[in-house]
Parts: sequence; structure tokens; C-alpha cells
Amino acid sequence: MGGLRGRHFLTLQDFTPREIKDMLSLTRELKSRQKIEEPHLLLKGKTLAMIFQKSSTRTRVSFEVGMWQLGGYALFLSSQDLQMGRGEPIKDTAAVLSRYVDGIMIRTFDHAEVEELAAHSTIPVINGLTDLYHPCQALGDLFTIQEKLGTMQGVNVAYVGDGNNVAHSLLLGCSKMGLNIRVASPPEYRPQEEVVVRAMENASLLGGRVLVTADPAEAVAGADVVYTDVWASMGQEEEKNKRRAVFSGYQVNSKLVGKAGPGALVMHCLPAYRGEEITAEVLESEQSVVLDQAENRLHAQKALMAVLMGNII
Ligand code: CP
Ligand code: NVA
Repeated sequence: MGGLRGRHFLTLQDFTPREIKDMLSLTRELKSRQKIEEPHLLLKGKTLAMIFQKSSTRTRVSFEVGMWQLGGYALFLSSQDLQMGRGEPIKDTAAVLSRYVDGIMIRTFDHAEVEELAAHSTIPVINGLTDLYHPCQALGDLFTIQEKLGTMQGVNVAYVGDGNNVAHSLLLGCSKMGLNIRVASPPEYRPQEEVVVRAMENASLLGGRVLVTADPAEAVAGADVVYTDVWASMGQEEEKNKRRAVFSGYQVNSKLVGKAGPGALVMHCLPAYRGEEITAEVLESEQSVVLDQAENRLHAQKALMAVLMGNII
């Protein structure tokens, strides 16, 4: 894993299946060490700057707590407080932060901003969600699937809903790791074609399958995992009503989950809107693993930070 030190984590596409596998193995190790309260101060004395231009519960808390558990320190920087919010160029922010801290986590709108930040940073930059991708979520989700089902190879994942950042990272993550993924979205809210093509290329190398359809029943038929996310993401609040109408046939409810394989896992990155993209009944059912998903963000991101920012292996 030595080759991961100093790298940026902007999308899962930049990592090989072997590298992702190694991060997932370290995730497992750090999770068990945390559970038995065995110290694992892999980032002792290191600091992480966390830039948030959008709201967050899970990402903020899991990164901050994760740094603490690894013996480091995390600074929360909202765009209201940073000079970046008043027009200081991203490249200056990147260069200056590189002199103070050991890594930067950023959540923002335009993915190009994260690329620019990374281009001008001499320290690792981690994408904590953009309009295009949410790779930390997908990393944690792959870990959760492996933990629950014992394997990733050949697992059938159905994603039903908006072809958004979460869908994009899931497409790349699943196709890289040998899972099959079917996405069902209304035609005008399909995942971006470029991402779908990438995922299909990944799948052809690794033996998985990728399908994008407008039919939720087709996506879910026999699936091992049924995944959904909000219909209106952060920054799309004004489209909420319009989207509610377009997506009404894409709700993950017990009828739809009934078409999946027996005991299929129900996943959602959270926050969830009960009665919209998922019913309360399904979200809170025995099949739902949403809280394990949320917890595993912590363990997966600790592994990620340790390999990018630490002196590991
Ligand atoms: N799933 C996720 O990233 O949650 P937050 O928006 O609360 O960070
Ligand atoms: N697609 C959602 C994910 C939130 C974690 C959003 O971008 O708002």
C-alpha cells in the first residue's frame, strides 16, 4: 500500500481494484481494533483541513472522529469563514493549506474545483462529495456489502432513483470490484453517459455487468442489494416539487423490494426522506443496513486517510 501515500482521492476510477481491496482490508482491521479499543495512532500528530461548502452530518463527524481516533486533529472550515468564500483563488488556498496541514477533505458543488484544489496542493486531497461523485460513500458501501454478504464478486446491486453523485460513484466502485450494477432512473435523470461508459469498460475487464434502464422492476429483479438516494440533491432544492412528480414511480417500497432476491440488503447513503424515495417501513426494516453503512464511513475513511497521509506499510 506504500504506493498510495501522497495520492489524491477524487474518484474511485483513479484506483486499481488491488488498491481498493487493500483499503478495504485495512478498513476491516481498523474496525476490529476500534471495537476492542486497541489504540491505532497511525496519524499521530497529523492534521486534516475539512472544507465544507455544503451541509453534512456523517461526513463531517466521521472524518473528525476518525482523525481523532488515529491520533491526529481535524479542522472544520466552512466556506463562510474561509477567504475562499470571499473570492480568494482555490489555487492560493491549496498552496497555503499545504504549508499548514497534512491533508485536505473538501465537500463542494463543482467537481472541477476539487480537481483544481488537488492540482495546486502538495498534500492529499480527499473528495467528500461533489455534484459529480461521492467516492468516500462508495468505499464505505463496498465494505458494507462485503461485510454483510461475505463477498463482492458477482453481487447484484440495483440502484433506483436519481442518476446523481452517489449513483456515479456506485457505478464506478461496483464495476471496479466485480459486482454487477443495474441503475433505474427516469430517462431525463439517467447517470451521465461518460460515467456509464467508464463503468462498462471497468466491467468488461473484471467480468461484471452494467445496465441502465428506466424500469425499476427490471433493475431490482433478483438483486442482492437495493440502493436508493434522495430525489433532489444539495443544490437542487428548488427542483424538489418537479422531481417529486417525475420520480414518483421510483420509490423503494415493500412492493419493489419484494421483487429483489430473498433477504436483499436495503441501502441508502442518508439523509433519507421517508415517503419520497423510500418508505419508512423499508428504511426501518430488518433488511435495511443504513446504519451500518453510516458507521462504516468512519472505518473506511480512517483506512483511506491512513494510507494517503500516513507512513503505513
Ligand atoms: N451520506 C453522507 O455523505 O451524509 P452527510 O451529507 O451527512 O455527510
Ligand atoms: N445525493 C445527495 C447525497 C447526500 C449525501 C446529495 O448530493 O445531496
